[in-house]
Amino acid sequence: MIALGCDHGGFNLISAIKKHFDEQGIAYKDFGTYSEDSVDYPVYACKVANAVVSGECELGILCCGTGIGMSIAANKVKGIRAAVCSEPMTARLCREHNNANIIAFGARIIGIATAEAICDAFLSAQFAGGDRHERRVGLITEIENKR
Ligand code: RB5
Repeated sequence: MIALGCDHGGFNLISAIKKHFDEQGIAYKDFGTYSEDSVDYPVYACKVANAVVSGECELGILCCGTGIGMSIAANKVKGIRAAVCSEPMTARLCREHNNANIIAFGARIIGIATAEAICDAFLSAQFAGGDRHERRVGLITEIENKR
């Protein structure tokens, strides 16, 4: 199950991603927002981040105007590694190297086709693991635990 979240700026692009997932039979849970009425992006970043750390959803996808605010907010939740992606290679590598569990992108930055390609790359990639990547992701967790 993939957790989806957006603010008003990301609403149209997340709606397009939902259609893309429907066509592929990918299961998702939509945590809102559900219209273009102005809302505060940290609220939706928090809902998606909590769904991922609780295990309710395996991965999360967030969309706002830039992807930046969503990613900053999601990364405040312990256990979240959220990456802003504007092209598919970053989306693949953030899974493989950083074990990212959320991606964020900006509806003011990318279009539907790129967002679809980013989601496909993120969902089809796996954490590469191995000594190097395990150690580095472990060091991120150490930083988090020292806060
Ligand atoms: C909303 O106006 C905008 O600030 C938001 O969508 C996002 O870009 C924040 O990072």
